[in-house]
Amino acid sequence: MNRTILRLSALTAVLLARAAWGGDSLDGDLAALLRRAGFTGRIESTLTARLGRPVDTGLADLGRLLWFDKLTGLHSDNTCAGCHVPINGFGDTQSIAIGIQNSNVAGPHRAGPRNQRRTPMVINAAFYPALMWNGRFNAPSGDPFDNSKGFLFPPPEGVTRFPPFDPAHPHLLMAQGEMPPTELTEAAGYTGTRGAIDPLFDQFDDGKGSAVPPPDSSGYRNDPIRQAVLDRLNHSPAYRRLFGLSFPQVAAGGTIDFTMFGRAIAEFELTLVFADAPLDRFARGQTGAMTESQKRGAIVFFGRARCDGCHAVAGNANEMFSDFQNHVIGAPQIAPLFGAGKGNVIFDGPGQDEDYGAEQISGDPADRYKFRTAPLRNLALQPAFFHNGSYMRLDDAVRYHLDARKAASGYIAAAAGVAADLTHRLGPIEPVLERLDPLLAQPVDLSREDFADLVEFLRTGLLDERASAGNLCSMIPRSVPSGMPMISFEGCHAADRHPR
Ligand code: HEC
Ligand code: HEC
Repeated sequence: MNRTILRLSALTAVLLARAAWGGDSLDGDLAALLRRAGFTGRIESTLTARLGRPVDTGLADLGRLLWFDKLTGLHSDNTCAGCHVPINGFGDTQSIAIGIQNSNVAGPHRAGPRNQRRTPMVINAAFYPALMWNGRFNAPSGDPFDNSKGFLFPPPEGVTRFPPFDPAHPHLLMAQGEMPPTELTEAAGYTGTRGAIDPLFDQFDDGKGSAVPPPDSSGYRNDPIRQAVLDRLNHSPAYRRLFGLSFPQVAAGGTIDFTMFGRAIAEFELTLVFADAPLDRFARGQTGAMTESQKRGAIVFFGRARCDGCHAVAGNANEMFSDFQNHVIGAPQIAPLFGAGKGNVIFDGPGQDEDYGAEQISGDPADRYKFRTAPLRNLALQPAFFHNGSYMRLDDAVRYHLDARKAASGYIAAAAGVAADLTHRLGPIEPVLERLDPLLAQPVDLSREDFADLVEFLRTGLLDERASAGNLCSMIPRSVPSGMPMISFEGCHAADRHPR
């Protein structure tokens, strides 16, 4: 009897010692890998210094109201929030965005014609030096807070169209904020400025709002659309008063201009920083902030799997888990059917079922199928992955990377969980895989345990708990200054809403 107890306690002592030893070496290993990768866990605290001033909460609040107000869509049927949905980290549940002519629901039950890509999360975009799935809006300086080399936008905007309207404190998002309302399929629609633009515009209008868009929208002028949005704002006494609070020239009777719109939107986006995850706290010395599984997963990520070869953290990556460069990883090419009510963007390629990614901007065939490395923070908030949401489970998106060739060749859209209307067409994958990034050419062999830890790290180790449903829903105003009907946000209760 006594002997058994002795034996048991000896065994316990050994187990305890092992556990302690194992824990220590986990912490030591992870800390060393983070040092090597250049991860500090302090990125969030750099915001104010890099902006050169605190965020202007009044202006941000105006930006928030604009975000939710369909007044800025020329047919009053969409605004940023229709696609950039609060509860999903200001990203989307839809694999491919639904813009104009939608069902006024934001979430899984949204219906209407599809555009071309998935709406990415906007939280933490303050730290992105290159925006969009192909990085087409970017800061050539590599720093979104640095306008010394201008901010680069593809034609028809170009680099010079965006003077640093807040010269002392420029930010890439201020320039980007001037773009979305001009996108025909996202917000403007096809008939909004009939006559104000060129005749080309009307050519695609069948009078029923189901117009087929042009193959190349760069022929359009964006300014007439901006002017029409401004007319709406300038005719709204509520908005004139609100803009007047931040811009003295408006209070003095001047007109609201589009740089003011862009600044208000950007200021709101600058408040959407959620970059204090368990990994950040661990890197700052709080070793208890992560679970053992998260730690083991992080060690796989930065160690054996070398995910940070692209999902980088140091320097211009701003600890966002992206090198902000474009790569071919070869996501399966799902595409909606084209036509009224189904899809309103003509896709690339001979079958019009492909997405050429970065080539659309550079015109260089060497850039075909390249997409920006997706930043990886707060992935738990989004239910769709890759530029077209071809996977609806994080496990699948991770597994894809381990053997891209095999996963892409065996892809079945319905099995990946995508919506039924996106299961009818699949662009060719062979030409994509021919260009596969060398870093993904060799399959990575992970044990079941390592894989589970890796996914756990990505799902919870990089999640900032402040990005909870309650906090995010509380940014939705009860009503908007224009008085227009609110979008219905699935998953958010009226009681959670902002009083204003
Ligand atoms: C129709 C849906 C839709 C609407 C409406 C919309 N967006 Fe987007 N947004 C997208 C999609 C899709 C992308 C990615 C497009 C691409 O890469 O080609 C995107 C990208 C972005 C990005 C870049 C994020 C990143 O990861 O680089 C920002 C910032 C952004 N939108 C802000 C806005 C703002 C501000 C508004 C309102 C003024 C708005 N969007 C309206 C769908 C939408
Ligand atoms: C060759 C560069 C590269 C490497 C290496 C790489 N990724 Fe990626 N990853 C990408 C690119 C590019 C995308 C976006 C692709 C797209 O949307 O078409 C992406 C997307 C993702 C996504 C989806 C995120 C989202 O929001 O859609 C996850 C998750 C991910 N990567 C995890 C990993 C993990 C885990 C590893 C290591 C096993 C890894 N990646 C290695 C380039 C890479």
